[in-house]
Amino acid sequence: MDRLTRVPGLLYGGDWNPEQWPEQVWAEDVKLMAEAGVNLVTVGIFSWARLQPGPDSWDFGWLDRLLDLVHRHGIAVDLATATASPPAWLVRAHPGSLPVTADGVRLEFGSRQHYCPSSPAYREAAVRLTRTLAERYRHHPALALWHIHNEYADHVEECFCPASAADFRRWLRERHGTIEELNRSWGTAFWSQHYDSFAQIEPPRTAPGPVNPTQLLDWRRFCSDALLALHRAEKAVLDEVSPGVPVTTNFMSMLKALDYWEWSRHEDLVSDDAYPDPADPRAHVNAAMNYDLMRSLKGGRPWLLMEQAPSAVSWRPVNLPKRPGLYRLWSLQALARGADGVLHFQWRASVAGAEKFHSAMLPHRGTASRGWQETVGLGAELRRLGEVAGSRLRGQAAVLLDWDSWWALELDDHPSARMRWPELLRPWYAALYERGITVDFLPPTAEPDGYPLLLAPNLYLLDTATADRLTAYVRDGGRLVCGPFSGITDRHDHIHPGGHPGPLRELLGIVVDEHWPIPDGATTAVRLNGTDLRAERWSEWIETERAETVARYHSGTLAGRPAVTRNRLGAGSAWYLSCHLGADVGPVLGLALAEAGVGPELPGLPDGVEATRRHAADGTGYLFLLNHGPDEHRVPLRTPGTDLLTGAEAAGAVTLAPLGAAVLRLPAAAQERA
Ligand code: GAL
Repeated sequence: MDRLTRVPGLLYGGDWNPEQWPEQVWAEDVKLMAEAGVNLVTVGIFSWARLQPGPDSWDFGWLDRLLDLVHRHGIAVDLATATASPPAWLVRAHPGSLPVTADGVRLEFGSRQHYCPSSPAYREAAVRLTRTLAERYRHHPALALWHIHNEYADHVEECFCPASAADFRRWLRERHGTIEELNRSWGTAFWSQHYDSFAQIEPPRTAPGPVNPTQLLDWRRFCSDALLALHRAEKAVLDEVSPGVPVTTNFMSMLKALDYWEWSRHEDLVSDDAYPDPADPRAHVNAAMNYDLMRSLKGGRPWLLMEQAPSAVSWRPVNLPKRPGLYRLWSLQALARGADGVLHFQWRASVAGAEKFHSAMLPHRGTASRGWQETVGLGAELRRLGEVAGSRLRGQAAVLLDWDSWWALELDDHPSARMRWPELLRPWYAALYERGITVDFLPPTAEPDGYPLLLAPNLYLLDTATADRLTAYVRDGGRLVCGPFSGITDRHDHIHPGGHPGPLRELLGIVVDEHWPIPDGATTAVRLNGTDLRAERWSEWIETERAETVARYHSGTLAGRPAVTRNRLGAGSAWYLSCHLGADVGPVLGLALAEAGVGPELPGLPDGVEATRRHAADGTGYLFLLNHGPDEHRVPLRTPGTDLLTGAEAAGAVTLAPLGAAVLRLPAAAQERA
């Protein structure tokens, strides 16, 4: 079985910051953890100052006692390397280890994540702490998982200090080899930006006007790599000293700063921190998208929800609690999309510090609180769902996600600043979500063969190798749907020759004459089969070469011109949307879905009900039904199953209360009909 850690069943627990409490409180903590069914706690995330009070003094006594205590209570530990918040003594001894902004401001001690990714002093100290911890605790029976650092790129994702500049120059030398190559790549003939040597290059600090775009793109790549190098330095120590114990670091959902395809190659398991906003009635759609990404990062392997809030967070301007039942429903949603555990920030609510108003599994009011009842309730339910651990789900369609293209798309001085990757992606994802289709994400280097439908909401930066793969995919019978402003630049962010969409021109059978952004607040009508859809942000003057026109612009200067096209090629077809259809994209994607023969997991789902199905290795299915809406719903079932949450047999239909859920075990033989 594909188990995340040695702990059986689903994982349940959270960050525990025992250094904020006198030791007497710990005894109560572990007793209550056992009561709630907690089986994994993350310890030590921000304990550096406590563990190493000075350059050569260590204090492990408290952690020894703590790990022994949790072990005696049958609870396992996700032990942090504690490197996300360097202590004051380190910072004062090495002021150069503090990060510097693009404007030259050195960020002060007094918060957290105050380190320069390229600081040798910080790295050396972090690696030393990791090694010391690993050597001390590698054989501790409570240890089940290593947790490196905390949320890389949280607060600080880049540093412009001299050490970073030197590291950037080293990185550039490795990437480009020679200064001539760099000059070519950066297009430095423009605005007299030529460099004679690497020594002349600096990070893209605040400059009088627009900075060289390829310099900015390389900077993004470098910043992701610089943090990854730090992570890998800690990972190498853990692999060497504590082999066999899995290692993770907590991701931050769909985060621009880090190329998680590259990062996840260095994780033993993917874990994620997710904070959907209870004030947003559509938050679960975005959450589903992030969870699908987390599952996809390791090709469908189960992942771990490392942090979520039991109720309110404390860092939004207005922090709404989760109304009764929402915490349970959203926890089940992570499981429905492939998580094998639900952990939290944090176990016990703090009384001091910046997060004292953040909810916790054990709220300030203690065990009399509503929050505590929900904590205990969810723990009991997760125990009932234990057999789901290790099962997998696979999307019916795939979405291409490329960090390089994301970074390049959002550089300045484009025809419109409104083309932002998450905002282009979300309506496409939502349209599929509403049709009950689960998607996997794929990197641009993947072979998409196994999927009948491939969606590419945007591929601004696209190399010819990827375009060739997409062409082969379509020729072999795949359906590709490509969004606007794609195929524009190569990996140097230079415009592809021969007109847009460059290497996609033949595949899509169209050519773009001119980009035609839509002003803020305005829309352009697009007529599809007699109905008007609204394009916003973006449209294009395109001409069809081999493609057929599926929908035309119906208002504005482009009225009558093709807006949506389809090009049949080999056994498949490639669709092109020359505009951003926002919330109206559904009908177009619906046509492509129908052509690709992709249907929902469970046909006839009422509005607001989410359905996914995980499969165990022996063929047993787990059908998750989640009602995100305010009304009760009856969901028709084709196959009877057992609701693991209640133990009841369900046949014919399941009734879901508002925010209600069911998790049905379906016997292997019934899978095809369910
Ligand atoms: C996360 C972080 C935690 C805590 C939490 C509060 O981003 O990893 O340490 O700050 O947010 O929501």
